[in-house]
Amino acid sequence: MTEQIRELLADELGRVRERSFGLTTSVLDDRALTAQVSPLMSPLVWDLAHVGNYEELWLLRAATGAEPLRPEIDGLYDAFEHPRAERPALPLLPPKEARAYLATVRARVLDTLEHARFDTDDRLTRDAFVYRMVVQHEHMHDETMLATHQLRTDAALLDPGAPARAGRPGPAEVFVPGGPFTMGTDRDPWALDNERPAHTVDVPAFHLDAEPVSNARFGAFMAAGGYGEPRWWTTEGWEWRTTSGKRAPGFWTREGDGWVRRRFGRTEEIPPDEAVQHVCWYEADAYARWAGRRLPTEAEWDKAALWDSDAGRARRYPWGEEYEERHANLGQRALRPSSDGAYPDGASPYGARRMVGDVWEWTSSDFAAYPGFRAFPYREYSEVFFGPEYKVLRGGSWATHPLGARGTFRNWDYPIRRQIFAGFRTARDA
Ligand code: AVJ
Ligand code: FE
Repeated sequence: MTEQIRELLADELGRVRERSFGLTTSVLDDRALTAQVSPLMSPLVWDLAHVGNYEELWLLRAATGAEPLRPEIDGLYDAFEHPRAERPALPLLPPKEARAYLATVRARVLDTLEHARFDTDDRLTRDAFVYRMVVQHEHMHDETMLATHQLRTDAALLDPGAPARAGRPGPAEVFVPGGPFTMGTDRDPWALDNERPAHTVDVPAFHLDAEPVSNARFGAFMAAGGYGEPRWWTTEGWEWRTTSGKRAPGFWTREGDGWVRRRFGRTEEIPPDEAVQHVCWYEADAYARWAGRRLPTEAEWDKAALWDSDAGRARRYPWGEEYEERHANLGQRALRPSSDGAYPDGASPYGARRMVGDVWEWTSSDFAAYPGFRAFPYREYSEVFFGPEYKVLRGGSWATHPLGARGTFRNWDYPIRRQIFAGFRTARDA
């Protein structure tokens, strides 16, 4: 068992690093790596060294008691010491040094992995939790780096991948009956602190869009003057609308009397049936009100995606316990969401499609602790973000790695954010 976990971890550590290089040193020169494309994002070379520093902190220092390799750089890569806007002015490791630092950390991690024990009483190493946390952390930053790439205005660099699969749409809505279900997990060794513990929640019956809202449907809201009608917006939402001046999803621009979009350095037509992305929570909320509907709560999203009422338990993914490519658009296989009707094999027991993959889905819920939550292994992963200023997103996007896209994973962001790969679906009371 231990030997199998060691192999799995060595493989996953290798794979995630390939991915990180594929988004940084393999495609960009030093100038581009150290430049900041938006005050919302770090220079890519910061993300790169930060994932190495996090790996050192948790897999060498915390797990084995090793001394710091370069104590003077810790502060530079502490996300809480320096907000993203400040990071380009820091004396960051230049790309070559960052790579060398990553290599040193990784060589030592692979050495210690050979003797690591996972059947311990120590919560950090039991079931290799801390290793899984570090692998996922790097995947999260890779998705963040993709958001940085999308903000670049230079020529296309990344392989756009296979086009999204067309599909045959099913019913527009699914029905989810009321009654108790289990939310969160105690068992998944990949689960982070905010996904725990498993607990019972009851929600009244509701209807949910079977698929995420498409560009065409969002376009209907725009054509109906939705961006100009304060009655569809909350007070804060209207404030955002008017001060930002936005009248379309992020990266859409006018062409003639229609719209085109810029996607990873290419300008292209907007596929009508593809899930809309780069909309903030306020836009999602306004659309839902215009449609006579509302955003689902996080608990509703969770039940519709994961609850298997016949088995009396939640699934790990909507379709079952293991991921295959036929189930969902995950893992950066294509740099875009899929379209209506794609991935029938990924439907949840209630028939909801594309709950996992494609776009992160905004929920109406604030980011809050599950009852019985305990911060582990550090408060700054999630506890410090609990509260009304952050909204929960669920389900992962096309950019999310399958390891981080288990159904229980919880993401959060400010309701004004649009650079993430986020869309939504809507609900109504039964
Ligand atoms: C879970 C995506 C909100 O990127 O801010 C990265 C993940 N935590 N480094 C973020 C995270 C520490 C986090 N999100
Ligand atoms: Fe981080």
